[in-house]
Amino acid sequence: MVLKCVVCGREYPEDEVRYRCECGGLLEVVIDLDKVDTSIFNGKEIKLWKYESWLPVKKRVSLEEGGTPLYRLLNLESDLGVKELYAKNEGANPTGSFKDRGMTVGVSKALELGMDKVICASTGNTSASLAAYAAKAGIKAYVLIPSGKIALGKLAQAIIYGARVVPIKGNFDDALRVVVETSKELGIYMLNSINPFRLEGQKTIAYEIYDQLGKVPDNVILPVGNAGNISAIWKGFKEMYEAGVIDELPRMIGIQAEGASPLAKAWKEKRKFQPEESPETIASAIRIGNPANWIKAWRAVEESGGLFESVSDEEILRAQKLLASREGLFVEPASAASLAGLIKLLESGEISRNESYVLITTGHGLKDPNIVIKNFQVPEPIDPTLEAFKEVIE
Ligand code: F0G
Repeated sequence: MVLKCVVCGREYPEDEVRYRCECGGLLEVVIDLDKVDTSIFNGKEIKLWKYESWLPVKKRVSLEEGGTPLYRLLNLESDLGVKELYAKNEGANPTGSFKDRGMTVGVSKALELGMDKVICASTGNTSASLAAYAAKAGIKAYVLIPSGKIALGKLAQAIIYGARVVPIKGNFDDALRVVVETSKELGIYMLNSINPFRLEGQKTIAYEIYDQLGKVPDNVILPVGNAGNISAIWKGFKEMYEAGVIDELPRMIGIQAEGASPLAKAWKEKRKFQPEESPETIASAIRIGNPANWIKAWRAVEESGGLFESVSDEEILRAQKLLASREGLFVEPASAASLAGLIKLLESGEISRNESYVLITTGHGLKDPNIVIKNFQVPEPIDPTLEAFKEVIE
């Protein structure tokens, strides 16, 4: 197993603390596919560490992550006239988002490397997750967040798990810049998704989808912010393919919020990627203008024959409400971007109704209760009498 630059191909040993190649390119963990256990995809006892032989760490800091439900969305299937529709509900992870997959592997790696401090920039979920896993590992966590711009539940989580929470007067992209500089200067282990070990944990979403579904879906649709997760899931599918476990691959469809959509814009306008200065959306988790993993994400979409799309805040809120009211699935706004994207692409005819789709619902709805309170009507109180109640329901 080595770390390999995705731009120039240069290789580095796995036990070196390094996030980028000398050339500036992103690194990727190359797994020795001769040594993986290809017989484990049997639909049973699904949880992240089932796939240990496919993961590049020996230590294990775990909160029992993964094994999240893959729901068939029968009501929405019939509403939308889609052949097969599923949601992989990542909100069911220990801290309520898919980030736990990255952190169980990333914090384990930190211990293996002998690091006793970890750091990240975050729009919320990464900070909550890092804080929890650092607490479990007994090491110090620093989390930098855009001041006043992260959802309440996520802030509460980072605080209660005991991380040093540092709000930054700026956005996520500013916070990440400071984290990159700090980790280098002060020797603190960085666990943003440019750390390739994070993505190793997150690639298990692909393994679990195949394990649960018993087949490869035609399409995987997910929200894109810093663009790590789409890269990770694609890597997971490709590894299964290269190891001979599966003989087909899904299309990867990445959805951004309109006000923070540098990848979707470049894709649709068929031009080179350009970061955005002032990203804005109610989906605070993906309010990112300069996705650090954009090269990997672009390749995932290109190689898989997929696409990038963007959706408006109104479309996101409508999709959030639909998932909750039609399927009993309460997700945070960023996660609802996946369904909003599906609806938009079906309506425009860019994708087919006669295929199977897995939506990755990335974070729990309770992370961001204010969105619901602000955007949907909260009922007025009534007198505590049968008459008053009858009046309301009639
Ligand atoms: N959905 C949720 C709920 C997220 O929290 C994030 C990213 C994404 C989607 C996008 O994933 O960055 O891999 O493309 N949240 C990060 C954070 C940036 O700091 O919590 P991505």
